[in-house]
Amino acid sequence: MARTSRRSKADAVLRLIRSDHRTVNELLRAFKRTDGERHRQAIVLTLCKELNAHALLEEELFYPALRSVARDGEVGEAYVEHSVVKGLVQKLEGMQPDEPYYEASVKVLGDLVEHHVDEEEDELFDLARRSQEDLQALAILMQERRAQLRQAQGLPQEAGEVIGLDEAAREAMLLGPGSKVPGMAGTVVNKLSNVVKGAMPRGRH
Ligand SMILES: [Fe+2]
Ligand SMILES: [Fe+2]
Repeated sequence: MARTSRRSKADAVLRLIRSDHRTVNELLRAFKRTDGERHRQAIVLTLCKELNAHALLEEELFYPALRSVARDGEVGEAYVEHSVVKGLVQKLEGMQPDEPYYEASVKVLGDLVEHHVDEEEDELFDLARRSQEDLQALAILMQERRAQLRQAQGLPQEAGEVIGLDEAAREAMLLGPGSKVPGMAGTVVNKLSNVVKGAMPRGRH
């Protein structure tokens, strides 16, 4: 009974992290499918913001909560992978899409993130389920901190739910405000479009 309850408390924390992972994954897939430098750059800049907010959230709250049950190096590897990801993010934030190695940098970033997410959702999620921390309190803390970090990055709070709903939603996101998506309110489509548009470099759209 106590075991079941601990697992379900961990689920609130893990759902939060998984939702961010799905958003990042959808942005990487959208990049691969999208032509046009402006839109590709907007997707990459949104991706960078998502990764900045997510990495800090984990480093400040999630990883420290695993210390009591982690073996040497288990969480250390994740910190090191974050630092490599952050280096590439910083590089991409300052690059133009027509520069050499822009596409290669996104590709390497995507591969790194994919590897990191796989390990996190496998090994670190397992540690979280065994953690002795108050997981309910951690979930609440993480929710609050996530909201602050997203705001600091200029990201909408609901991005985890709306970005990547389906193919049509992504199309609309790239087409811009006023696009029609069956079954989706125009305000949601416009909001999505503005998220990406807001990430576009000034004077280039
Ligand atoms: Fe991570
Ligand atoms: Fe993560």
